[in-house]
Amino acid sequence: MSASVIREILKVSSRPGVISFAGGLPSPDTFPLKEFEHAVKETLRVDGTRALQYMVTEGHAGLKNYLCGWLKKNGIEATEDQMLFTQGSQQGLDLLGKIFLNPSDSILVEDPTYLGAIQCLNAYQIKYLSVSIDEDGMDPMEVDRKLRRQKAKFLYVVPTFQNPAGFTMSLEKRKGLLKVAHKYGVPIVEDDPYSVLRFKGHPVPSLYALAKGEGVIYVSTFSKILSPGIRLGFILSDKGVMEKLIYAKQATDLQTNTFIQYAVYHYCQMGYLEKHIPNIIQDYAHRAAVMMKAIKENFPSEVHYIEPEGGMFVWCRLPKGIKASEVFKKAIQKNVAFVDGSVFYPNGGGENTFRLNFTNSTDDTIQTGIERLADVIKTFLEPLPSSRGRRPKRSHEIASSLRSSQ
Ligand SMILES: Cc1ncc(COP(=O)(O)O)c(C=O)c1O
Repeated sequence: MSASVIREILKVSSRPGVISFAGGLPSPDTFPLKEFEHAVKETLRVDGTRALQYMVTEGHAGLKNYLCGWLKKNGIEATEDQMLFTQGSQQGLDLLGKIFLNPSDSILVEDPTYLGAIQCLNAYQIKYLSVSIDEDGMDPMEVDRKLRRQKAKFLYVVPTFQNPAGFTMSLEKRKGLLKVAHKYGVPIVEDDPYSVLRFKGHPVPSLYALAKGEGVIYVSTFSKILSPGIRLGFILSDKGVMEKLIYAKQATDLQTNTFIQYAVYHYCQMGYLEKHIPNIIQDYAHRAAVMMKAIKENFPSEVHYIEPEGGMFVWCRLPKGIKASEVFKKAIQKNVAFVDGSVFYPNGGGENTFRLNFTNSTDDTIQTGIERLADVIKTFLEPLPSSRGRRPKRSHEIASSLRSSQ
């Protein structure tokens, strides 16, 4: 294990005066304080002693029932005995590591992929088969080629509004990926914290929904639709895997926080969750639009980016040869922070990429921060032959450059 690079970056970027696009924090403006207070009061009034007691490892049956109904609206059919509550989805990933992985095993991941998964699964001393991405996800043919040569215990993917790269895997590629995974008998772990947060474009069914749960383990969370501080996530899987997950969960921490499960149950039962999600989407749509406008107006044309349709991030690529880590050093002197994209590549690479978060900054700080960052980036471009006069590349034009420089 090693110190989280992100935590180190967050330390620097939480200094007073720093405009930080580094973290992946939801906007605190979206936290439903009054409604959650109501739910907590109801928890104590209606379920007082039960909510303060130990409970079964499997979790709150009423909340499972609610969640199964809610997921069904998104095409995800699951029964309550296929669901386990976890301490955030991060614990879900760790439990999957515990039950699937032995030292020297490999898993197949997108390149780049979620840093928290790399950190968590590194503890199991595994290797990563990384597959480069286009703007619509991994190429199933490349996955096939990798799996023909090497075994993987599972495929880990964040197919919708990926962290860090913000892209969404196309329906065609999802179907292709399911076929390949099925061909080699490899389960897919679908990590899906962001799909609900769509503010543009058309929804794409989850891998879990497309496969009707067969061969797909689904991991999700209340972190981005309610609050990350409550640390409540869940896993859906078939019965065989679920049995093992429950053993692993019992051994790890017995159960997920009883009180929080009751409080979220009351929150959902009172209809607050469904009313709240459109508010978050509206808020993030606005912040993303402010960031995109600032980027288009200020970033030099040499910087490529993926325009997000949901989620929390904008993924950017500098011209080859310019290291985001060097840009970061200068940017932090100007009090603006972001995450150097190379940390998301488990086998190295991506030195010229970086991730911007738009959900935890105000309109003014987004504008000022992007202007400052643009000025810093320009200092790195000056010695290069200028491509002045060229219009910035749009997101659909950068697919090939995404592949080529990984
Ligand atoms: C792709 C992905 N998976 C998992 C997590 C962890 O979320 P949680 O707060 O539920 O542990 C995050 C958090 O940012 C994430 O982006």
